[in-house]
Formats: sequence, C-alpha cells, structure tokens
Amino acid sequence: MFMKIAILAILATAISAYPQAQCALGRTYTVQPGDTCNGISGQQSVPLFQLTSANTGLNCNNLLVGQSICLADVGQDCTDVHVVGMNENCASIAMDAHIPLTTLFANNGNINDPSCNNISVGDVLCVASTAIPYGA
Ligand SMILES: *[C@@H]1O[C@H](CO)[C@@H](O)[C@H](O)[C@H]1NC(C)=O
Repeated sequence: MFMKIAILAILATAISAYPQAQCALGRTYTVQPGDTCNGISGQQSVPLFQLTSANTGLNCNNLLVGQSICLADVGQDCTDVHVVGMNENCASIAMDAHIPLTTLFANNGNINDPSCNNISVGDVLCVASTAIPYGA
C-alpha cells in the first residue's frame, strides 16, 4: 500500500515537473496599459498566431495590465517575420520570402486558408522556411 502511494507520488511529481510547453528564456512580457494582442505582436515582432499559441486561453479582449504573457515557447519561436504591407497578399508574401504558400499557411494558423481574406496591414506573420512545431 505504502509502496503504491509512493510510486503514485513520484509519478505525479514527474508529470507536473514537465509541462508540455515552457516559455522560452527572456520571452516573457508584462502587459502595459493600452496593450492589445495585435499591438504587442507588432511592437515585439512576434507573429500573432505565435502569441496565442504560447498562451493557452489568452483572452485578447481582456488583457490585464501587469499580466505576464509568453511571447514564444521553447522550440516554437519564429523570429523570421514579415509585417503585412499595403497591397500584399499571401501569395506575394510567400513569394517574397521564398517559401511555399503551404508553409506560410502552416506557420500562421490564424490566416484563412486558402482565401487569405483576413490579413491586414501591420499584421506580423511568420515567414520561416521550415515548420514551427506550434502546439507540440
Ligand atoms: C481569420 O479568421 C479566422 C476565422 O474565420 C480567425 O480565427 C482568425 O483569427 C482570423 N485571423 C486574423 C489574422 O484576423
């Protein structure tokens, strides 16, 4: 009996000691007055999709001043970014970045695929040439 409890305790400790994703070193950010998810994304050059993926349950409509958020999880930090400009679309952005359109969609799960009808000037997109394992 005691042995079983001890084993369970060890297992529970081992599991809780290894959460699925950890915020990358130096990639935490404290919400300031007036901040929005889009604003933080632009100012910190972090793809918006990455911001939501690194903060499970983040409510962009209710950011709290002083709240600590993560800009990137370990191994899921796309630093190869592109800020959407006037008259750009997914095809032109992918072409300029020399990456396949499929990679652009794969690394920016918030863009409607394939219509790409919901990107706006100023949006920060990940244009890495390899797949970022978001959510892994
Ligand atoms: C695009 O639209 C989808 C749902 O239609 C939404 O989940 C996503 O956040 C939108 N992306 C942007 C960049 O607005």
